[in-house]
Amino acid sequence: MAALDAPSTQGGGREFAFTGEDFRTIAAVLHGDAGIYLPDTKATLVYSRLAKRLRVLGMSSFREYCALIQGQNGLDERQAMLAALTTNVTRFFREPHHFEDLRDKVMPALAAKARSGGRVRLWSAGCSTGPEPYSMALTLLGVLPDAARHDVKILATDIDPNVVQTARAGVYSREALEAVPASDRKHLMRDPAAGSDMWRLSDEVQDLITFRELNLVRPWPMSGKFDVIFCRNVVIYFDDATQEQVWKKFIDVMNPGARLYIGHSERVSGDGGRLISDGLTAYRLGAAR
Ligand SMILES: C[S@@+](CC[C@H](N)C(=O)[O-])C[C@H]1O[C@@H](n2cnc3c(N)ncnc32)[C@H](O)[C@@H]1O
Repeated sequence: MAALDAPSTQGGGREFAFTGEDFRTIAAVLHGDAGIYLPDTKATLVYSRLAKRLRVLGMSSFREYCALIQGQNGLDERQAMLAALTTNVTRFFREPHHFEDLRDKVMPALAAKARSGGRVRLWSAGCSTGPEPYSMALTLLGVLPDAARHDVKILATDIDPNVVQTARAGVYSREALEAVPASDRKHLMRDPAAGSDMWRLSDEVQDLITFRELNLVRPWPMSGKFDVIFCRNVVIYFDDATQEQVWKKFIDVMNPGARLYIGHSERVSGDGGRLISDGLTAYRLGAAR
């Protein structure tokens, strides 16, 4: 590949040399680390997002940057590169039909299971800064207000330790919380220490959720099975083979009849017919054939 179409600086020339080989190295490292596929059309985006990193590191070329991320001391920078190249866009009650489905079609049976002593587990896989698992927790508490007295837990994971830390803190602006329904607002507490109009999710909500760093394309440590998995707007960045591996691994950790919610532009494939479409981008685990 010839030198890529990288943006120019005001002076006319490119600030940092950026070749096709540099792009391929960065794409290969990102794919190896996180399963994320970068087509050539993303070259300009890669240049502009990583140019900031080169400036911070005082480097003068992408070749130097590539040597760092491939070297023994490159682990921290690979983490920073991942954060720079991925999007963490998320919001409370995003794709609200999933939370309506959870409340009306899924939670009644799970609440009965919990009340009769059963174990209930939900997972937000690729939770970003937290609005998704908190929306799940608020929905769950709406149906099962005494969840704390039962064996009910939500796991929330992401590959990026920075977003996991933000999610765990559970502090958001009023604007970020606008989509929270009036009936759930009793779980929002003012947090003056965090800022004049900052709010914290109540302990009752926070105690339901365990936040962990987890890479979906590496082995998963958990042994128990899940009743509900939200994995939305995450695998869209993976290549097809990696997506199929993730769907198969979800099947392995889902209870019979468990539910999977995916993003509006994502599709399940290579699941051997196990994940049965049941609503808009909602699936139910069917029996093995
Ligand atoms: C666009 S956000 C989606 C957040 C939320 N699920 C939603 O739909 O609002 C995508 C998240 O996937 C995470 N991610 C990307 N690759 C991942 C991987 N290999 N394992 C786990 N999380 C990953 C990113 O760090 C990011 O926080």
